[in-house]
Amino acid sequence: MSRNSPRYSKTMIIIHWLTALLVVGAWLTAEGGRKVVQDPPLLHFALGLAVLVLIVPRLILRLVDGAPATDTQHGWLAIGAKAGHGLLYLLLIGLPITGWYAASRMGVPVSFLSVELPAIASKVQGRPGLIAELHENAGTFILILAGLHALMAVWHQFVLRDGTLQRMSLR
Ligand code: HEM
Ligand code: HEM
Repeated sequence: MSRNSPRYSKTMIIIHWLTALLVVGAWLTAEGGRKVVQDPPLLHFALGLAVLVLIVPRLILRLVDGAPATDTQHGWLAIGAKAGHGLLYLLLIGLPITGWYAASRMGVPVSFLSVELPAIASKVQGRPGLIAELHENAGTFILILAGLHALMAVWHQFVLRDGTLQRMSLR
């Protein structure tokens, strides 16, 4: 567990933890069904859209810099971590877009930092459809997956003692 073990860049680390807070915030402020139309959860929209905004620099940095080197991760563990991280990234992109789509189907305007965004689907009467349902379920699934991900990080840190948490820590 060396103090100088390779770690993600400062920007990646800040975005990681900020995104984690935003996802939990979006989950806590989520509403479903008629309540969304009558009293749109503007904070839910804003927190969720901030996740989408942050994913852009994050993916660019990830593609340019790659992940810090590791020599402790082999075989199925490495494959599991890659698949888990891939799925988290997919959800971080898919959730805000499906949420925006669901709001558009419900005829609820979406704005970000006071700028009104265009609808990305036409309004329907009644239930907003399959993608909205997918959004609701995926919205809870990401929290479960992130919980497992956190458990894995803690297991790496305290059982394998390979300094995994340092890789995502500023100090
Ligand atoms: C909603 C919450 C979270 C999301 C969406 C999330 C997402 C991610 C993603 C996508 C990566 C891969 C980074 C990359 O290689 O580009 C990552 C890495 C990491 N996360 Fe999280 N995370 C969350 C919460 C947490 C929590 C609570 C912990 C710790 C208790 C944690 C610890 C870590 C660590 C240590 C890494 C680096 C793993 C490595 O070096 O391979 N994350 N996270
Ligand atoms: C990481 C981001 C997000 C997470 C974790 C998330 C999570 C959730 C969850 C768990 C629900 C179900 C609430 C319930 O049924 O009580 C929900 C509903 C909803 N969310 Fe999100 N959401 C995110 C982003 C967004 C964004 C960016 C928008 C819009 C711009 C949005 C719009 C909606 C709408 C309209 C519903 C109601 C769908 C329906 O009733 O069919 N969400 N969200």
